[in-house]
Amino acid sequence: METMVWIVDKNGEQLTGCPQLKEAAILLSHNEVVAFPTETVYGLGGNALVNEAIDKIYAAKGRPSDNPLIVHISDYAQLKEVVSQVPEKAEALIKAFWPGPLTLVLPKGKDVADKVTAGLDTVAVRMPDHPVALALIELAGVPIAAPSANLSGKPSPTAAKHVYDDLKGRISGLVDGGETGVGVESTVVDCTEEVPMILRPGGVTKEQLEHVVGEVSVDPALSENGQAPRSPGVKYKHYAPKGEMYLVSGGREFIQQLVRKEQDKGHKVGVLTTSENETYYKADLVLACGVRADLQSVARRLYDALRTFDDHDVHIIFSEVFPEEGVGKAVMNRLEKAASGNFICQ
Ligand code: TXA
Ligand code: MG
Repeated sequence: METMVWIVDKNGEQLTGCPQLKEAAILLSHNEVVAFPTETVYGLGGNALVNEAIDKIYAAKGRPSDNPLIVHISDYAQLKEVVSQVPEKAEALIKAFWPGPLTLVLPKGKDVADKVTAGLDTVAVRMPDHPVALALIELAGVPIAAPSANLSGKPSPTAAKHVYDDLKGRISGLVDGGETGVGVESTVVDCTEEVPMILRPGGVTKEQLEHVVGEVSVDPALSENGQAPRSPGVKYKHYAPKGEMYLVSGGREFIQQLVRKEQDKGHKVGVLTTSENETYYKADLVLACGVRADLQSVARRLYDALRTFDDHDVHIIFSEVFPEEGVGKAVMNRLEKAASGNFICQ
């Protein structure tokens, strides 16, 4: 299959008049799949009302079909096409955070294709805060189901190049709108119970949610091993680089010693750090991902760094750890997955 690529300036005026986006929207209306930028990561979109389109999403990603997708909408009226009910707290969260990196799990509307929700009676929905995504959804005229546009098991794409590397020849189109902003996926919150529950930490923090709706719980599976997670996708191994990754809690001298030991064994070793410590380390590949003083900048660069380790076939990666405050919670959650729980403490 040929993958069409359209470059679109996200700061352009009147994006709904943009010929490239019109072409992309036509493909979507023919139940083809098209990747597009959101403010978090690139998504792989398909018509959320048609199973045929959803099948193509799962096939292109190689994703297990029991892992449901997020439906993206471009205006508030469209919510009625996707969900059957909006509880009061969900309404308050929508007012506060949409468009933005917050996905709500709500009772499913009857028109949403079964395969979007993998047979569940709930559906995940969000309104992305990205002009290209909003214009594309509006032009398509239907809600768009879109998981992250990576091959299953790879880090989510934060640039069009990442999508192209993974899915070239497997999807009909790719809208290149530049690098995404947030860098980690949306926060997923189950709003079907009285107390909203975070199923996946992300761009919107627990503190921000609690400020709007009071008590918010966190899926115990996120902190305790062995519990079945409520968000089906969370159980899969995600974001795993090819090299073996270790999170290291300890000073940089300690990390440097670990590097040396592995290099002595003949391994190619990488270090994931931030620009504050970048020049300190001596390893085969040292990648600075943002600045530690600004965890948002770490989130933005994280997946690109993980992919770069892959490109260089590094055998072992030692990563610094980050404070689990604000978006740091999402950063550590993704790093723990990438490291498959490998943790070294000084
Ligand atoms: O930022 C994002 O959320 C990106 C962009 C493209 O919007 N999308 C994304 O989608 O990360 P995906 O498919 O990679 O992750 C969707 C997550 C999975 O963990 C899935 O299990 C969960 O949302 N999910 C979807 N529907 C659900 C439902 N009905 N109940 C519980 N969890 C659900
Ligand atoms: Mg994903």
